[in-house]
Amino acid sequence: MTTRDPRYDILFEPIKIGPVTAKNRFYQVPHCTGMGWLRPRMVADMRATKAEGGWGVVCTEYCSIHPSTDDMPTPSHSLWDSGDVKAHRLMTDKCHEHGALAGVELWVGGSRVSNLYTREPPLDVASMPNWNGDPYQSRAMDKYDIQQLRRRHRDAALRARDAGFDIIYVYATHRYLIDNFLNPQINNRTDEYGGSQENRMRLLRELIEDTMEAVGDTCAVAVRYTVDDGGGPDGTPVHGDRMEIFEALAELPDLWDINIWDYSLEMGTSRFTREGALEDYMSTVRSKTTKPVVTVGRFTSPDTMASQVKRGIVDFVGAARPSIADPFLPQKIEQGRPEDIRECIGCNICYTGDSKHYPLRCTQNPAMGEEWRRGWHPENIDVKGSDDSVLIVGAGPTGLEAARALGQRGYTVMLAEATRELGGRVSAESKLPGLSEWARVRDYRVGQLDKLHNVEIYRESELGLDDILAVGVDHVAIATGASWRRDGYGNYHQCPMDPLPPEDKTFTPDDLFSGRLPSGTTVVFDDDGFYLAGAIADKLVKNGNEVIYVTPHALVSNWSDNSGDQPRVHKHLAELGVKIILNHGVDSFDGETAVLGCAFTEAQQSIAADNLVLVTCRTPRDELYYKLLDAIEEGVEGAPKSVKRIGDAEAPAIIAAAIYAGHKYARELDCEIDRDNPAKYDRVFFEDS
Ligand SMILES: Cc1cc2nc3c(=O)[nH]c(=O)nc-3n(C[C@H](O)[C@H](O)[C@H](O)COP(=O)(O)O)c2cc1C
Ligand code: SF4
Repeated sequence: MTTRDPRYDILFEPIKIGPVTAKNRFYQVPHCTGMGWLRPRMVADMRATKAEGGWGVVCTEYCSIHPSTDDMPTPSHSLWDSGDVKAHRLMTDKCHEHGALAGVELWVGGSRVSNLYTREPPLDVASMPNWNGDPYQSRAMDKYDIQQLRRRHRDAALRARDAGFDIIYVYATHRYLIDNFLNPQINNRTDEYGGSQENRMRLLRELIEDTMEAVGDTCAVAVRYTVDDGGGPDGTPVHGDRMEIFEALAELPDLWDINIWDYSLEMGTSRFTREGALEDYMSTVRSKTTKPVVTVGRFTSPDTMASQVKRGIVDFVGAARPSIADPFLPQKIEQGRPEDIRECIGCNICYTGDSKHYPLRCTQNPAMGEEWRRGWHPENIDVKGSDDSVLIVGAGPTGLEAARALGQRGYTVMLAEATRELGGRVSAESKLPGLSEWARVRDYRVGQLDKLHNVEIYRESELGLDDILAVGVDHVAIATGASWRRDGYGNYHQCPMDPLPPEDKTFTPDDLFSGRLPSGTTVVFDDDGFYLAGAIADKLVKNGNEVIYVTPHALVSNWSDNSGDQPRVHKHLAELGVKIILNHGVDSFDGETAVLGCAFTEAQQSIAADNLVLVTCRTPRDELYYKLLDAIEEGVEGAPKSVKRIGDAEAPAIIAAAIYAGHKYARELDCEIDRDNPAKYDRVFFEDS
């Protein structure tokens, strides 16, 4: 085993946090999972895997202190009663077994939640509209409510201690209740909790003191806090009121977990945000407190991490997404193999779980969320179940991941790719403006495949049925991806456009990827609704085209609302000069005029355009699969024992699904899977009353 590079020694120093000590500086900051109170065993094993991977601190997601605050339909965590204490024990015990500290982020939602589960009126500093647009308002807290809140927060801290947590948070950011008390624009109270800075910070001060008093002898008390006042352009902090409050409270808690005002920068996608993007916000923070400081920045490079610590920006390297993409990131640095890190690509698919209330998943890490229910470990995999050989056709994300994981299992694998370049859609899409980091999906896998002597890669090898029969392998996986449709079929047109737009003036994303670009005014029709059409519009502007972006959705790159970067996509396209037409589909195009139809009425409008780019829907490339299936059924000589189509060749979807499909194929080859009960499901059980 290689040893770690001494440049990174500093990352492995133990750091004291009040009464507890973290074994190193790798700190998994709070992040949701879409599992929370609803799926305690899934979430516990997921956190335990990070502890096993070397993180010195592993935190929960936001954790409701009491039924007076819930975030339905998203299952946050909760610490309402002894049942919750028991659920959290699953996590804390496992973290401790691996030498990690366990942290819990006590949370009160305020007007960001509507309490759709408990149906209690949300409480906040004032009576305000729900921040997420639900038709509910909060009740302004009176002094009795504040007393109750303090008692409930204290009780939750005691339950957290009983559950085995080492670090207990006061969560004072992200526009939840405590943050709102601090905010001079929102806090217009006239009592001792409003008005002056001293009054606005009173609740936070009291909650820190209460928590210290209740559990501070055995647990560290952390505060998650926004240190800037917002409003400046990216990377240009405006420091004022928040920094003054920070200075006033600097020595109270045991640890500061620092965030910034703009969540879309804090959790920015790689399309708009670079690694370490919070550094300018942090530069003066650490000099104002003697307590350890942690912050985030989608850190995947050990050089950046060590540099931030050495230059005194932070004490701990905070990470949400890098720990999701690679739970074993610290161990890989420690073992001197940073090239094995599965780097986060900044796509925020993980965050879509939060937005859409489903269990966490990750583009880079197919095992994320599957640790308990499928028993998948991100680094380990069962050895092969036979000496059979496997041919994978197509080296896109699915084929690369299948080959990597089968190779790790010890199978003899042939990976055939029709083109010169590996990576399929990932390679193509990563050449679009802003998406270059997505190539990490390919690069990680190609790097791992280079180490596997049992996997052969054949480039420029487009295989037909006869070629495969001639090879005579045991198993074939068809991972040939999908093609974008040229006929407009999709959500808006549920049958092909009639008449079809002229071929020489119609483009698909595949045309653009292969270098066939339109010239002149171009309509980009985004019926797909995620990132691709927006990125294509960006590319075409850079190509010199005048671009008109048309979508039947109410938002540009509609589904990106779930990954948190939709407003930035809209702003970016608008600033590039793209003409944006929402709530409309392209009814027809004759090469000169596009007729647009309103998504709600029969109204139509015509616009002049030279070309049309259709981003509507894909067709799986599965011809070879059916031919092989016939060959197997007919017992043709050389036919494999099994054929499967996987990834986009089976059902086109996001890249995370493509990676998952390749991984699943590799995991399940030669394994007995009960197709009626393919996984354990974390359910709510109840006792007879
Ligand atoms: C999936 C996901 C869920 C998150 N949930 C929480 C949360 O529950 N509480 C919180 O304080 N921050 C939450 N965050 C924000 C992260 O703690 C962190 O500030 C942000 O992701 C930037 O750090 P990173 O670049 O290391 O990902 C979440 C982030 C992600 C990606
Ligand atoms: S889903 Fe994307 S952003 Fe989230 S951790 Fe994985 S690679 Fe990173």
